[in-house]
Amino acid sequence: MKNEQAILLTGGAGYIGSHTFVALHEAGFAPVILDDFSNSHPAVLDRLERITGRAPVLERGNVLDTAFVEAVLRRHRIAGVVHFAGSKAVGESVAQPLKYFGNNIGGAISLLRAMEAVFLGPGSWAPPTLVFSSSATVYGDPATVPITEDFPRSHTNPYGHTKLVIEDMLAAVRQAQPAWRVGVLRYFNPVGAHASGLIGEDPAGIPNNLMPYVTQVAVGLRPQLSVFGGDYPTPDGTGVRDYIHVDDLAAGHVAALRALSSGASFTVNLGTGQGYSVLQVVRAFEQASGRKVPYQVVARRAGDVAQCYADPSLAKRVLGWQARKGLEEMCADAWRWQSGNPKGYAT
Ligand code: UD1
Repeated sequence: MKNEQAILLTGGAGYIGSHTFVALHEAGFAPVILDDFSNSHPAVLDRLERITGRAPVLERGNVLDTAFVEAVLRRHRIAGVVHFAGSKAVGESVAQPLKYFGNNIGGAISLLRAMEAVFLGPGSWAPPTLVFSSSATVYGDPATVPITEDFPRSHTNPYGHTKLVIEDMLAAVRQAQPAWRVGVLRYFNPVGAHASGLIGEDPAGIPNNLMPYVTQVAVGLRPQLSVFGGDYPTPDGTGVRDYIHVDDLAAGHVAALRALSSGASFTVNLGTGQGYSVLQVVRAFEQASGRKVPYQVVARRAGDVAQCYADPSLAKRVLGWQARKGLEEMCADAWRWQSGNPKGYAT
Protein backbone atom coordinates (compact mmCIF):
# COMPACT_ATOMS: atom_id res chain seq x y z
CA MET A 1 0.00 0.00 0.00
CA LYS A 2 1.24 3.46 -0.82
CA ASN A 3 1.84 5.79 2.08
CA GLU A 4 -0.32 8.64 0.83
CA GLN A 5 -0.81 11.72 2.97
CA ALA A 6 -4.47 12.73 3.16
CA ILE A 7 -5.04 16.42 2.36
CA LEU A 8 -8.40 18.08 2.99
CA LEU A 9 -9.54 20.53 0.31
CA THR A 10 -12.34 22.76 1.58
CA GLY A 11 -14.17 23.99 -1.51
CA GLY A 12 -12.41 21.20 -3.38
CA ALA A 13 -15.16 20.94 -6.02
CA GLY A 14 -14.62 24.52 -7.17
CA TYR A 15 -12.49 25.89 -9.97
CA ILE A 16 -9.10 26.09 -8.25
CA GLY A 17 -9.93 23.28 -5.81
CA SER A 18 -10.67 20.76 -8.56
CA HIS A 19 -7.44 21.53 -10.42
CA THR A 20 -5.50 21.28 -7.16
CA PHE A 21 -7.20 17.91 -6.52
CA VAL A 22 -5.68 16.61 -9.77
CA ALA A 23 -2.24 18.06 -9.00
CA LEU A 24 -2.20 16.53 -5.51
CA HIS A 25 -3.34 13.17 -6.82
CA GLU A 26 -0.55 13.20 -9.41
CA ALA A 27 1.99 14.18 -6.72
CA GLY A 28 1.07 11.10 -4.64
CA PHE A 29 -1.17 12.74 -2.03
CA ALA A 30 -4.67 11.51 -1.18
CA PRO A 31 -6.92 14.57 -1.54
CA VAL A 32 -10.32 14.62 0.22
CA ILE A 33 -12.96 17.10 -0.96
CA LEU A 34 -15.15 18.96 1.53
CA ASP A 35 -17.80 20.91 -0.36
CA ASP A 36 -21.47 21.83 -0.04
CA PHE A 37 -21.86 22.60 -3.78
CA SER A 38 -23.22 26.05 -2.96
CA ASN A 39 -21.08 27.46 -5.76
CA SER A 40 -19.91 24.32 -7.56
CA HIS A 41 -21.43 21.35 -9.38
CA PRO A 42 -21.45 17.67 -8.30
CA ALA A 43 -20.71 16.70 -11.93
CA VAL A 44 -17.11 17.75 -11.30
CA LEU A 45 -16.68 14.48 -9.35
CA ASP A 46 -17.23 12.29 -12.43
CA ARG A 47 -14.84 14.47 -14.37
CA LEU A 48 -12.19 14.11 -11.68
CA GLU A 49 -12.67 10.35 -11.75
CA ARG A 50 -12.15 10.34 -15.51
CA ILE A 51 -8.92 12.33 -15.14
CA THR A 52 -7.44 10.48 -12.17
CA GLY A 53 -8.95 7.01 -12.67
CA ARG A 54 -10.25 7.04 -9.12
CA ALA A 55 -13.55 8.19 -7.60
CA PRO A 56 -12.85 11.26 -5.46
CA VAL A 57 -13.46 11.01 -1.73
CA LEU A 58 -16.20 13.53 -0.90
CA GLU A 59 -17.41 14.88 2.42
CA ARG A 60 -20.51 16.89 1.66
CA GLY A 61 -21.05 19.73 4.10
CA ASN A 62 -20.17 23.27 5.11
CA VAL A 63 -17.02 24.53 6.84
CA LEU A 64 -19.22 26.57 9.17
CA ASP A 65 -20.15 23.26 10.81
CA THR A 66 -17.15 22.91 13.15
CA ALA A 67 -18.16 19.50 14.53
CA PHE A 68 -18.50 18.15 10.99
CA VAL A 69 -15.06 19.49 9.98
CA GLU A 70 -13.53 18.00 13.12
CA ALA A 71 -15.08 14.60 12.37
CA VAL A 72 -13.79 14.75 8.78
CA LEU A 73 -10.26 15.58 9.93
CA ARG A 74 -10.29 12.57 12.25
CA ARG A 75 -12.04 10.16 9.87
CA HIS A 76 -9.42 10.62 7.15
CA ARG A 77 -6.43 11.22 9.44
CA ILE A 78 -5.81 14.45 7.53
CA ALA A 79 -2.18 15.63 7.38
CA GLY A 80 -2.82 19.09 5.93
CA VAL A 81 -5.67 21.37 4.86
CA VAL A 82 -6.03 23.65 1.84
CA HIS A 83 -8.77 26.18 2.52
CA PHE A 84 -10.45 27.28 -0.71
CA ALA A 85 -14.06 27.43 0.51
CA GLY A 86 -15.55 30.90 0.54
CA SER A 87 -17.55 33.46 -1.37
CA LYS A 88 -15.64 35.34 -4.06
CA ALA A 89 -17.76 37.78 -6.07
CA VAL A 90 -16.62 41.35 -5.47
CA GLY A 91 -19.88 43.04 -6.55
CA GLU A 92 -22.02 40.67 -4.49
CA SER A 93 -19.82 41.35 -1.46
CA VAL A 94 -20.67 45.06 -1.66
CA ALA A 95 -24.40 44.26 -1.86
CA GLN A 96 -24.35 41.48 0.77
CA PRO A 97 -21.46 42.18 3.14
CA LEU A 98 -22.77 39.92 5.90
CA LYS A 99 -22.77 36.93 3.57
CA TYR A 100 -19.06 37.56 2.98
CA PHE A 101 -18.05 38.27 6.57
CA GLY A 102 -20.14 35.30 7.70
CA ASN A 103 -19.00 32.74 5.10
CA ASN A 104 -15.39 33.76 4.74
CA ILE A 105 -14.35 34.94 8.19
CA GLY A 106 -16.85 32.68 9.97
CA GLY A 107 -15.74 29.73 7.81
CA ALA A 108 -12.07 30.35 8.59
CA ILE A 109 -12.75 30.60 12.33
CA SER A 110 -14.74 27.36 12.25
CA LEU A 111 -12.00 25.53 10.34
CA LEU A 112 -9.26 26.87 12.65
CA ARG A 113 -11.21 25.80 15.72
CA ALA A 114 -11.67 22.30 14.32
CA MET A 115 -7.98 22.09 13.40
CA GLU A 116 -6.94 23.36 16.81
CA ALA A 117 -9.06 20.72 18.57
CA VAL A 118 -7.70 17.91 16.41
CA PHE A 119 -4.07 18.83 15.85
CA LEU A 120 -3.28 20.55 19.15
CA GLY A 121 -5.47 18.25 21.23
CA PRO A 122 -4.85 14.80 22.72
CA GLY A 123 -4.05 12.05 20.21
CA SER A 124 -2.84 14.47 17.54
CA TRP A 125 -0.91 12.78 14.71
CA ALA A 126 0.36 15.91 12.91
CA PRO A 127 1.08 19.60 13.44
CA PRO A 128 -1.74 21.94 12.31
CA THR A 129 -0.87 22.60 8.66
CA LEU A 130 -2.88 25.00 6.54
CA VAL A 131 -2.62 26.53 3.07
CA PHE A 132 -4.90 29.54 2.67
CA SER A 133 -6.26 30.99 -0.60
CA SER A 134 -5.59 34.69 -0.35
CA SER A 135 -5.62 37.12 -3.24
CA ALA A 136 -3.75 39.98 -4.86
CA THR A 137 -6.83 41.95 -3.86
CA VAL A 138 -5.07 42.51 -0.49
CA TYR A 139 -2.71 44.97 -2.24
CA GLY A 140 -5.63 47.30 -3.05
CA ASP A 141 -4.40 49.92 -5.55
CA PRO A 142 -0.63 49.26 -5.60
CA ALA A 143 1.64 52.33 -5.81
CA THR A 144 3.95 50.55 -8.27
CA VAL A 145 4.32 47.23 -10.09
CA PRO A 146 5.57 44.52 -9.87
CA ILE A 147 4.17 43.84 -6.41
CA THR A 148 6.27 42.24 -3.68
CA GLU A 149 4.79 40.63 -0.57
CA ASP A 150 5.89 43.49 1.69
CA PHE A 151 3.69 46.05 -0.12
CA PRO A 152 1.10 47.73 2.11
CA ARG A 153 -2.26 45.98 2.23
CA SER A 154 -5.68 47.57 1.98
CA HIS A 155 -9.20 46.71 0.88
CA THR A 156 -11.82 48.35 -1.31
CA ASN A 157 -14.73 45.91 -0.84
CA PRO A 158 -15.95 43.37 1.75
CA TYR A 159 -14.59 40.41 -0.23
CA GLY A 160 -11.07 41.87 -0.13
CA HIS A 161 -11.59 42.85 3.48
CA THR A 162 -12.28 39.22 4.43
CA LYS A 163 -9.01 38.06 2.81
CA LEU A 164 -7.11 40.69 4.76
CA VAL A 165 -8.76 39.84 8.07
CA ILE A 166 -8.16 36.11 7.59
CA GLU A 167 -4.48 36.75 6.83
CA ASP A 168 -4.25 38.73 10.09
CA MET A 169 -6.15 36.05 12.00
CA LEU A 170 -3.74 33.37 10.77
CA ALA A 171 -0.76 35.47 11.86
CA ALA A 172 -2.26 35.91 15.34
CA VAL A 173 -3.04 32.20 15.68
CA ARG A 174 0.50 31.30 14.67
CA GLN A 175 1.95 33.82 17.09
CA ALA A 176 -0.12 32.40 19.92
CA GLN A 177 0.77 28.81 19.07
CA PRO A 178 4.00 28.41 17.04
CA ALA A 179 3.18 24.77 16.22
CA TRP A 180 0.93 26.07 13.42
CA ARG A 181 2.33 25.81 9.90
CA VAL A 182 0.61 28.29 7.64
CA GLY A 183 1.15 29.02 3.96
CA VAL A 184 -0.68 32.08 2.63
CA LEU A 185 -0.91 32.11 -1.16
CA ARG A 186 -1.85 35.40 -2.80
CA TYR A 187 -3.30 34.46 -6.18
CA PHE A 188 -3.16 36.87 -9.06
CA ASN A 189 -5.66 36.17 -11.90
CA PRO A 190 -6.25 32.43 -12.38
CA VAL A 191 -7.45 31.43 -15.87
CA GLY A 192 -7.35 28.41 -18.19
CA ALA A 193 -8.37 24.83 -17.54
CA HIS A 194 -7.02 21.31 -17.35
CA ALA A 195 -5.68 20.18 -20.73
CA SER A 196 -8.28 17.37 -20.89
CA GLY A 197 -11.06 19.95 -21.23
CA LEU A 198 -12.98 18.00 -18.57
CA ILE A 199 -12.76 20.55 -15.74
CA GLY A 200 -12.69 24.34 -15.85
CA GLU A 201 -14.21 27.53 -14.58
CA ASP A 202 -18.01 27.42 -14.40
CA PRO A 203 -19.25 30.72 -12.99
CA ALA A 204 -22.87 30.98 -11.88
CA GLY A 205 -24.76 33.63 -13.83
CA ILE A 206 -23.03 36.46 -15.67
CA PRO A 207 -19.25 36.11 -15.28
CA ASN A 208 -17.56 38.88 -13.30
CA ASN A 209 -14.08 38.00 -14.50
CA LEU A 210 -12.54 38.65 -17.88
CA MET A 211 -11.61 35.21 -19.20
CA PRO A 212 -14.93 33.41 -18.58
CA TYR A 213 -16.71 36.40 -20.12
CA VAL A 214 -14.48 36.22 -23.20
CA THR A 215 -15.00 32.47 -23.59
CA GLN A 216 -18.80 32.87 -23.26
CA VAL A 217 -18.79 35.54 -25.97
CA ALA A 218 -16.67 33.29 -28.22
CA VAL A 219 -19.05 30.36 -27.80
CA GLY A 220 -22.07 32.55 -28.56
CA LEU A 221 -23.65 32.75 -25.11
CA ARG A 222 -23.16 36.54 -24.93
CA PRO A 223 -23.10 39.06 -27.77
CA GLN A 224 -20.03 41.08 -26.88
CA LEU A 225 -17.46 41.90 -24.25
CA SER A 226 -17.50 45.22 -22.44
CA VAL A 227 -13.93 46.38 -21.94
CA PHE A 228 -13.98 48.35 -18.70
CA GLY A 229 -11.96 51.49 -19.39
CA GLY A 230 -9.77 52.49 -22.33
CA ASP A 231 -8.08 55.43 -20.64
CA TYR A 232 -5.85 53.82 -18.03
CA PRO A 233 -2.20 54.87 -17.93
CA THR A 234 -1.16 51.60 -19.63
CA PRO A 235 0.33 50.98 -23.12
CA ASP A 236 -3.08 50.52 -24.82
CA GLY A 237 -5.27 52.19 -22.19
CA THR A 238 -6.86 48.97 -20.89
CA GLY A 239 -6.24 47.34 -17.49
CA VAL A 240 -3.16 45.18 -17.02
CA ARG A 241 -3.25 41.97 -14.94
CA ASP A 242 -1.10 38.95 -14.14
CA TYR A 243 -3.00 36.00 -15.62
CA ILE A 244 -1.80 32.64 -14.33
CA HIS A 245 -2.73 29.20 -15.65
CA VAL A 246 -4.83 27.36 -13.06
CA ASP A 247 -2.55 24.29 -13.43
CA ASP A 248 0.44 26.40 -12.42
CA LEU A 249 -1.58 27.71 -9.50
CA ALA A 250 -2.51 24.14 -8.53
CA ALA A 251 1.17 23.16 -8.64
CA GLY A 252 1.84 26.07 -6.27
CA HIS A 253 -0.38 24.37 -3.66
CA VAL A 254 1.55 21.11 -3.94
CA ALA A 255 4.81 23.05 -3.52
CA ALA A 256 3.32 24.91 -0.55
CA LEU A 257 2.34 21.69 1.25
CA ARG A 258 5.81 20.26 0.68
CA ALA A 259 7.45 23.43 2.01
CA LEU A 260 5.19 23.41 5.09
CA SER A 261 6.22 19.85 5.88
CA SER A 262 9.68 21.19 6.68
CA GLY A 263 8.14 23.52 9.25
CA ALA A 264 8.41 27.03 7.84
CA SER A 265 5.39 29.32 7.41
CA PHE A 266 5.23 31.84 4.57
CA THR A 267 3.16 34.33 2.57
CA VAL A 268 3.87 34.37 -1.16
CA ASN A 269 2.52 35.75 -4.41
CA LEU A 270 1.44 33.21 -7.01
CA GLY A 271 1.69 34.98 -10.35
CA THR A 272 3.77 34.87 -13.50
CA GLY A 273 5.36 38.30 -13.15
CA GLN A 274 4.07 39.21 -16.62
CA GLY A 275 1.26 41.71 -17.11
CA TYR A 276 -1.15 41.63 -20.07
CA SER A 277 -3.79 44.19 -21.00
CA VAL A 278 -7.44 43.33 -21.63
CA LEU A 279 -6.94 43.85 -25.37
CA GLN A 280 -3.84 41.63 -25.40
CA VAL A 281 -5.91 38.89 -23.77
CA VAL A 282 -8.70 39.34 -26.32
CA ARG A 283 -6.24 39.10 -29.21
CA ALA A 284 -4.45 36.06 -27.78
CA PHE A 285 -7.80 34.38 -27.23
CA GLU A 286 -8.91 35.07 -30.80
CA GLN A 287 -5.67 33.52 -32.06
CA ALA A 288 -6.01 30.44 -29.88
CA SER A 289 -9.70 29.84 -30.60
CA GLY A 290 -10.03 31.03 -34.18
CA ARG A 291 -13.16 32.92 -33.05
CA LYS A 292 -13.86 36.64 -33.12
CA VAL A 293 -14.56 38.31 -29.79
CA PRO A 294 -16.58 41.45 -30.47
CA TYR A 295 -16.00 44.11 -27.85
CA GLN A 296 -16.85 47.63 -26.94
CA VAL A 297 -14.79 49.91 -24.73
CA VAL A 298 -17.03 51.29 -21.97
CA ALA A 299 -16.52 53.25 -18.74
CA ARG A 300 -14.13 52.00 -16.07
CA ARG A 301 -15.54 49.54 -13.52
CA ALA A 302 -15.64 50.98 -10.01
CA GLY A 303 -12.83 49.67 -7.83
CA ASP A 304 -10.59 48.50 -10.71
CA VAL A 305 -6.91 49.39 -10.72
CA ALA A 306 -4.80 50.21 -13.77
CA GLN A 307 -2.06 47.64 -13.30
CA CYS A 308 -1.57 44.65 -11.03
CA TYR A 309 1.16 42.08 -11.51
CA ALA A 310 3.37 40.08 -9.22
CA ASP A 311 6.98 39.88 -8.42
CA PRO A 312 6.90 36.06 -8.03
CA SER A 313 10.55 35.67 -6.95
CA LEU A 314 9.78 34.93 -3.29
CA ALA A 315 7.64 31.91 -4.28
CA LYS A 316 10.55 30.66 -6.35
CA ARG A 317 12.94 30.99 -3.42
CA VAL A 318 10.64 29.62 -0.72
CA LEU A 319 8.68 26.99 -2.66
CA GLY A 320 10.97 26.24 -5.60
CA TRP A 321 7.91 27.02 -7.70
CA GLN A 322 7.39 29.15 -10.77
CA ALA A 323 4.66 29.50 -13.35
CA ARG A 324 5.43 27.75 -16.64
CA LYS A 325 2.44 28.20 -18.92
CA GLY A 326 2.05 31.26 -21.15
CA LEU A 327 -0.95 33.27 -22.29
CA GLU A 328 -1.41 31.22 -25.47
CA GLU A 329 -1.80 28.00 -23.51
CA MET A 330 -4.12 29.68 -20.98
CA CYS A 331 -6.38 30.80 -23.84
CA ALA A 332 -6.25 27.49 -25.72
CA ASP A 333 -7.15 25.54 -22.57
CA ALA A 334 -9.92 27.98 -21.56
CA TRP A 335 -11.36 27.58 -25.06
CA ARG A 336 -11.16 23.77 -25.04
CA TRP A 337 -13.11 23.72 -21.79
CA GLN A 338 -15.74 26.28 -22.86
CA SER A 339 -16.27 24.88 -26.36
CA GLY A 340 -16.55 21.31 -25.05
CA ASN A 341 -18.90 22.37 -22.24
CA PRO A 342 -20.82 25.38 -23.56
CA LYS A 343 -22.99 25.49 -20.47
CA GLY A 344 -20.33 24.37 -18.02
CA TYR A 345 -21.01 21.27 -15.92
CA ALA A 346 -24.72 21.53 -16.65
CA THR A 347 -23.98 20.80 -20.36
C1 UD1 B 1 -11.13 40.41 -9.64
C2 UD1 B 1 -11.45 41.02 -8.32
C3 UD1 B 1 -10.44 40.54 -7.31
C4 UD1 B 1 -10.48 39.03 -7.25
C5 UD1 B 1 -10.22 38.45 -8.63
C6 UD1 B 1 -10.44 36.96 -8.62
C7 UD1 B 1 -12.56 43.14 -8.85
C8 UD1 B 1 -12.49 44.63 -8.79
N1 UD1 B 1 -11.49 42.46 -8.42
O1 UD1 B 1 -9.83 40.85 -10.06
O2 UD1 B 1 -10.73 41.10 -6.06
O3 UD1 B 1 -9.51 38.57 -6.34
O4 UD1 B 1 -11.13 39.00 -9.57
O5 UD1 B 1 -10.08 36.42 -9.86
O6 UD1 B 1 -13.54 42.58 -9.29
N2 UD1 B 1 -12.59 43.28 -17.51
C9 UD1 B 1 -13.25 43.79 -18.61
N3 UD1 B 1 -14.50 43.30 -18.92
C10 UD1 B 1 -15.09 42.31 -18.20
C11 UD1 B 1 -14.41 41.78 -17.07
C12 UD1 B 1 -13.17 42.30 -16.76
O7 UD1 B 1 -12.74 44.68 -19.30
O8 UD1 B 1 -16.23 41.91 -18.52
C13 UD1 B 1 -11.24 43.78 -17.19
C14 UD1 B 1 -11.11 44.43 -15.82
O9 UD1 B 1 -11.43 45.80 -15.88
C15 UD1 B 1 -9.64 44.16 -15.51
C16 UD1 B 1 -9.35 42.82 -16.19
O10 UD1 B 1 -10.36 42.69 -17.19
O11 UD1 B 1 -8.81 45.14 -16.10
C17 UD1 B 1 -9.43 41.63 -15.24
O12 UD1 B 1 -10.67 41.67 -14.55
P1 UD1 B 1 -11.17 40.45 -13.65
O13 UD1 B 1 -11.01 39.18 -14.39
O14 UD1 B 1 -12.52 40.80 -13.13
O15 UD1 B 1 -10.11 40.40 -12.47
P2 UD1 B 1 -9.66 41.55 -11.43
O16 UD1 B 1 -10.54 42.73 -11.49
O17 UD1 B 1 -8.20 41.76 -11.64
